[in-house]
Amino acid sequence: MDIIEQIKKLKKEKNAVILAHYYVPDEVQAIADYIGDSYYLSKVAVDLKEQTIVFCGVSFMGESAKILNPKKTVLMPDMTADCAMAHMADRETIQEMRKKYDDLAVVCYINSTAELKQYSDVCVTSANAVKIVKALPNKYIFFIPDRNLAHYVASQVPEKEFVYNTGYCPVHEKVQVEEILEAKRMHPEAEVLTHPECAEAVLKVSDYIGSTSGIIRYAEESPKQEFIICTENGVRYELKKRNPGKKFYFTKTEPVCHDMKKVTLEKILQVLETGENEVFVTDELRENSGRPLEKMLELAR
Ligand code: 13P
Ligand code: SF4
Repeated sequence: MDIIEQIKKLKKEKNAVILAHYYVPDEVQAIADYIGDSYYLSKVAVDLKEQTIVFCGVSFMGESAKILNPKKTVLMPDMTADCAMAHMADRETIQEMRKKYDDLAVVCYINSTAELKQYSDVCVTSANAVKIVKALPNKYIFFIPDRNLAHYVASQVPEKEFVYNTGYCPVHEKVQVEEILEAKRMHPEAEVLTHPECAEAVLKVSDYIGSTSGIIRYAEESPKQEFIICTENGVRYELKKRNPGKKFYFTKTEPVCHDMKKVTLEKILQVLETGENEVFVTDELRENSGRPLEKMLELAR
């Protein structure tokens, strides 16, 4: 039996389901039951009938799935797959901002640890951040951890005052305007589709800005045939699958999230066989970090 058949057999035996983010390796996306962006995966996780969720992504994703589904078993193929940005904020600064601004909402990007989520008022993903921030009654928004997404949301919600944090995604920050312009010179007809974790200067030369699923949807619906993609290169798999006739280019330095690439078929098989790498969250942390996550699901509806 090959590895894919073994995974399928074990999945049935263990009443398990596989969720995968668009950034994991192609062969993992190919065997997943559900593939999507962070928002889609957090929504999907709530309605699953299977008892075990194998989460192919980085730790904040598995952690959020467990927080939203405390009765389920959540397994991570690689426990060391982490998002560097998820740690780029701190409790002291949040407390300081709460003291400084009366009418403040602490808005926490889902790319954050549960520890940070618990000090926040609401979570957001790149797909729903604008909608949720617009719906908040507060005048001041302290957006953690990502400064780039914060600047993008601020540009879309000018009626609010933003307080910025210093966090960033090391993968998206490396996308260079010069490399986009170089790709544009080679493919003048191509549209530039960009994730809002990229720097402001990159967003300025883009034709569309959105989450990974937003980028995929845009490329599918656009009459254009060529696109320059400014996000992690794992999205190429779904873009090609949905649009076999269209052309997708990346910048010369292709963005790669090495943590997402740690997820392999062998590791999926291993956790299904052994039940290793289960995600645990204390009751207190689950309750406190679950509140902003549930508020997100409610406001994004
Ligand atoms: P999405 O919200 O598009 O899934 O992005 C998640 C992410 O980690 C981007 O770097
Ligand atoms: Fe985190 Fe960036 Fe990797 Fe996304 S691409 S998981 S934000 S490090």
